[in-house]
Amino acid sequence: MSDEGTKWVKEKDGIYWPTEKMKEKAFVSDPEIYKEAKENPKKFWEQKAKELIDWFVEDWDEIQKWDPPFFKWFEGGKTNLSYNCVDRHIEDKKNKPAIVWEPEPVDEEQRILTYGDLHEEVQKFANVLKELGVEKGDAVTFWMPMIPETAIAALACQRIGAWHSIVYTAFSPEAVRKRMDDAGSDILITADGFYRRGKVVELKDNINEALDKVGADKCLVVNRADADPEMVDGRDHFLEDVKDGVEASCEPEELDAEDIGFLLYTSGTTGKPKGVKHSVGGYLVQAALTMKWVFDFHEDDMFFSTADIGWITGHTYTLYGPLIHGGTTLWYEGSPDHPNLERWWEIIEENEVNQFYTAPTALRMLIKHGKDLPDKYDLSTLRVLGSVGEPIDPETWQWYFEKVGGGRCPIVDTYWQTETGGILLTSLPGMGPFVPGVAGVPLPPVNYDILDKDGEPVDKGAVVIKKPFSPGMLRGVYKNPDKYKEEYWSRYGDRIYFSGDEGIKTEYEVGGQRLLKIVGRMDDLLEVAGHRLGTAEIEDAVQMVDEVAEVAVVGKPHDVKGEVPALFTILVDGAEPSEELKKKIVKSVRQEVGPVATPGEIFFVEECPETESGKVIRRFLRSLLEDEELGDMRTAKNPDCLRDLAEKVGYEGPQDIPDYNC
Ligand code: WTA
Repeated sequence: MSDEGTKWVKEKDGIYWPTEKMKEKAFVSDPEIYKEAKENPKKFWEQKAKELIDWFVEDWDEIQKWDPPFFKWFEGGKTNLSYNCVDRHIEDKKNKPAIVWEPEPVDEEQRILTYGDLHEEVQKFANVLKELGVEKGDAVTFWMPMIPETAIAALACQRIGAWHSIVYTAFSPEAVRKRMDDAGSDILITADGFYRRGKVVELKDNINEALDKVGADKCLVVNRADADPEMVDGRDHFLEDVKDGVEASCEPEELDAEDIGFLLYTSGTTGKPKGVKHSVGGYLVQAALTMKWVFDFHEDDMFFSTADIGWITGHTYTLYGPLIHGGTTLWYEGSPDHPNLERWWEIIEENEVNQFYTAPTALRMLIKHGKDLPDKYDLSTLRVLGSVGEPIDPETWQWYFEKVGGGRCPIVDTYWQTETGGILLTSLPGMGPFVPGVAGVPLPPVNYDILDKDGEPVDKGAVVIKKPFSPGMLRGVYKNPDKYKEEYWSRYGDRIYFSGDEGIKTEYEVGGQRLLKIVGRMDDLLEVAGHRLGTAEIEDAVQMVDEVAEVAVVGKPHDVKGEVPALFTILVDGAEPSEELKKKIVKSVRQEVGPVATPGEIFFVEECPETESGKVIRRFLRSLLEDEELGDMRTAKNPDCLRDLAEKVGYEGPQDIPDYNC
């Protein structure tokens, strides 16, 4: 047992407070900090920026500049993420593990990169990029698995001021192509393949066609799985070949805090995914502070985040956060259920992991198929557990707390978004309180509120963020300032950021603020197995099938994945519903978006409920799937279609659906 071996105090109403030991060890344990930070937020961030980050110059021009809805932080300050993650640790941590990589095949050796190794490899990789013509401000697209070269390549981009744009490997080549096209990126970094559930997933051979289509100049291929991919002369290069002979030294660029650090494409409420722009300096400060406070991360800690690098969590906490602090991050290549459902627990025991960060969907899967398996392992090195991506239900919370955390570890239920760069809201380990299913309060000095549709503060409604914001917030949508305004700064004007989520202010309090429970998205985004997907992207993919006239996609509740895409499909005249057609639709979605978006249910219907102006009323479709009250059906111009839909989906909800005869 670790020194925190005392059981947490559980009060009658199910709240947990930190033990004295946790309070002593934690970086912050006095709720006064919430008030202090709010009194002078600029000063708070300035202090943190100076304390946590190395800068190349003494000062910046201004801490924050605000020109709604655009803002800048630390402009004039010069820094570099790669320098902060690598170089500054070299003197005293040269031989300390920075990245511990666990391959999926169990008989393959773990790879450890020390800070010294990382320093050498990142510089070489940066020179490889330069050799291939990459310059500051160029977008470099990644379609990379969880292997050490991905971390090295990302840090190499940071070193020279190029922007990585990392695409999740479960998105399709077509999705990669669209993102390359939007970013004007003419170089792709990929691997021949990688291991997932015991099989090699080929990347390079699958992406060739997309590379041709987008007219890519260069493709750099890391050999991971000896898959022997087809290579195009002049365009495609194996890393090993180009790396051979490059210089081992490359000084980090002195970047402005307001330079772009990277792009990350994410689903929006309409149309195609948008390139979220993150800054160099503000992002770095937010990543540093949240890593330290939220996970109570000390430099000797071993951090295991299961988030793939293709998502923002993979960027901020699997990669950068632990390295900023000179700690160790554990990367696992494969799937939690390979070769069996004990893999994560085994990794935690063997590597003496201190913080474990994952998504509720994975926990639900592990509970369903192996709820007692953690008992077989010594997980006593764990100190903090994290959850992200979707609300964690109280049952899953309890299991995580008892079985994985041994009743000792706080669960930080971290609420944030690709757009916020780092965690916004959670109870903190040294302060609590921890309430199953309730995320917590915003980090100091983040200012949130819950508003109704008229902008009035209420207990249940839209989650918004108000001034002073935090330095890690997005700086815009790449090449699309209108989209930035429309998506986040239009619902309540240009001074209030609308998150798209619904939340509830609970009765629990800390530091003068009420703890927030996140209910879920209010817009047309889905969270499938913790992965954010836009209904619009999926609809576009379905619409490409000739037999489809119209389609509406909504989330259908799923006991493990949280939700899955359900399709209400209207066919063109003469087309007949069939299993074949379902397969064709699934294929199109997998091709255009990727396996991650595979439909969970396809309904062939005659009509969907619509408003007078012809807009599909998704609320009805969702209620039908969730067996909930539908409310006043006459808000649809064609309420009669709901009877047919109810039958198709097997609606067992409380409301009778009358015959409107209209
Ligand atoms: C959801 C992931 C409830 C939310 C970091 C948000 C959550 C969206 C939580 C962003 C949480 C994230 N509790 N819901 N702890 N964390 N979400 O951009 O709907 O992939 O808006 O960023 O995930 O997803 P994204």
